[in-house]
Amino acid sequence: MRKIQLFLAFVLLPMMAAAQTVKSPNGNVALTFTLSDNGRPTYEMTYKGRAVVKPSHLGLELAKDRHASKGKDETDLMDGFKITDTRVSSFDETWKPVWGETATIRNHYNELEVDLNQPSSDRNIIIRFRVYNDGMGLRYEFPQQKALNYFLIKEEHTQFAMAGDHTAWWLPGDYDTQEQETQQSKLSEIRARFNKAVNWDNSSVAVFSPTGVQTSLQMKSSDGLYINIHEAACVNYATMHLNLDDKNMVFESWLTPDATGLKGCMQTPCTTPWRTVMVSDDARDMLSSNLILNLNEPCKIEDTSWIHPTKYCGVWWEMIVGKSTWNYTDEYPSVKLDLIDWTKAKPNGRHAANTAKVKQYIDFAAANGLQQVLVEGWNVGWEDWANMWKADVFDFVTPYPDFDIKYLNDYAHSKGVKLMMHHETSSSVTNYERHLPAAFALMNKYGYDAVKGGYVGDIIPRGDHHFSQAMNDHYLYVVKEAAKHHVMVNAHEATRPTGLCRTYPNLIGNESARGTEYEAFGGSRPDHTVVLPFTRLQGGPMDYTPGILETQLKTWSDNPNYVHTTLVGQLALYVTMYSPLQMVADLPENYAKYMDAFQFIKDVACDWDDSRYLEAEPGDYITVARKAKGTDNWFIGGKCDENGHKSVVKLDFLDKGKKYDCTIYADAKDASFDKNPKSYTITKKTVKRGDVLKLAEAPGGGFAVSLMAR
Ligand code: NOJ
Ligand code: CA
Repeated sequence: MRKIQLFLAFVLLPMMAAAQTVKSPNGNVALTFTLSDNGRPTYEMTYKGRAVVKPSHLGLELAKDRHASKGKDETDLMDGFKITDTRVSSFDETWKPVWGETATIRNHYNELEVDLNQPSSDRNIIIRFRVYNDGMGLRYEFPQQKALNYFLIKEEHTQFAMAGDHTAWWLPGDYDTQEQETQQSKLSEIRARFNKAVNWDNSSVAVFSPTGVQTSLQMKSSDGLYINIHEAACVNYATMHLNLDDKNMVFESWLTPDATGLKGCMQTPCTTPWRTVMVSDDARDMLSSNLILNLNEPCKIEDTSWIHPTKYCGVWWEMIVGKSTWNYTDEYPSVKLDLIDWTKAKPNGRHAANTAKVKQYIDFAAANGLQQVLVEGWNVGWEDWANMWKADVFDFVTPYPDFDIKYLNDYAHSKGVKLMMHHETSSSVTNYERHLPAAFALMNKYGYDAVKGGYVGDIIPRGDHHFSQAMNDHYLYVVKEAAKHHVMVNAHEATRPTGLCRTYPNLIGNESARGTEYEAFGGSRPDHTVVLPFTRLQGGPMDYTPGILETQLKTWSDNPNYVHTTLVGQLALYVTMYSPLQMVADLPENYAKYMDAFQFIKDVACDWDDSRYLEAEPGDYITVARKAKGTDNWFIGGKCDENGHKSVVKLDFLDKGKKYDCTIYADAKDASFDKNPKSYTITKKTVKRGDVLKLAEAPGGGFAVSLMAR
């Protein structure tokens, strides 16, 4: 009897510590932590009393360290914990982003810190929860201690038990790409739909489970709750996927492995990224949420004066469409770069990045108020860039003989324009890091202040994945090195963003999803751009490259494909797809055909003092009004799926007593993305606060409105 009493007092009772609940500042979100009976950390989450995450376990499985543990099995950080302390605190601060959707952002949460000890290993970990009005973040923290110095992660087992068979907007799990089409299905249908999702463009190379999905994952419950799972501040850690137990509707974290299969190499003190669950009964709150940014650390760059939002055009779309080439010659020089005499190479006559053409693009940018001109294919190596042995293809400093780097930069600067650098690494990552100092020195020498990066193809060192811990370290290393050179970074094919642009605002863009380029490769569904703001954009802006007004590519090239929006739908994207970096992606000669519609692209801002999401439903429509930074001008964008949409926009956000010159770019009555994309109307009128605009969006279309204060 006494033995049982002692067991209860010293072993079981501390483990079964009373549940701790912390609520969001407005009380709508509640988070409860308990240790289950075997000392397993467990949490649950509700919104206005409704279950969002049912009781779910937390923990990490560790891998045996071949060298250090002398064959001894590693103790997992999964169970057998006791609570040593808990702390509840509150935080409320308003901060100013260097660029963003609003001039200020409020970071307001209540926090629960749970200190845990695992007696069997004498290890201490902390689980920290931050509860916001629109969701919560949790992370594991590993303080420095004798019993936990270095450790290897076999798998993180963070569960998210869903309360029902929700509708989900999901991408198939993949360690290397997120350039697939989003699938919309019930959670229970993911398994059956998975192969179709993966095979859509055949790009998936490392699928791990038929119920594995990527984040940010947007869901909607049958009773109207919008739930989003993602991560924030993924630093020195592998990108997280979610694997669904589709009998019980429980998601569990599934980290990206490295080439050896390990998922994390850790050294204390360290933390995991935040695991985030956003929730609301209003879809607009998903889009206006700043939860991911708030969970990232404040800006670490002291002088940010050189970081600036940018509209840019570029020598790009004509290569993507197939009319011209990145490479200078069609001869295949499979010899090392420095052995080639480029002045003797035979030009193919289709090399786009030549001095005369780039000059035309600079003139086009200068004439239309665009700040930069991207030039791809300026540097030697494109003849051989996709070979599978690509050890060291690009040096990032040697221009092709027909690209006069000094003259073009001088010419651009004389017109108030900058060239934008391009570094396609073809995923030869170690070599890129070796070339980086010289590459940035060249940029500084000629006055480039932004670089578009790229990671096409398999990672070298071989076997690693685009979303592994080491690759995530690499992308951030490039951003930090770039900051030292006052260079802004926009990397394509890199891992999906997790809000790090708050800490490093020179990270002005990423691709990390299916961009406009796919319209030239076969197309993306019309609902694609009314899903992305709910999913991919949660972690940071996307270089989506909108603005293709000549949507039917066959009118100017041999490419039979067409863009799956109306012309006006392309205008709307400048407002609905928030980014401080916006491409004006079509060719100058195509814009010349639609100068009246092009006016909106010239006028629209890409940095904002305020943003109001007016209407939203994932996969159906998004309407947003934004106030241009430092002005009284507003821009409104509406975008819809293949079904069209009718919007009623009440202008109650305008300043009282002011008059605005309003220009409405709308789909004409007979417009549609597939049959009649270029049928549009432009209407001008004067409006004031309280007026109402009724706007009809065509199938695959949208609308764009500019409101210039008088
Ligand atoms: C893929 C990128 O998404 C695209 O924008 C770029 O032009 C090519 N890679 C070549 O770097
Ligand atoms: Ca891409």
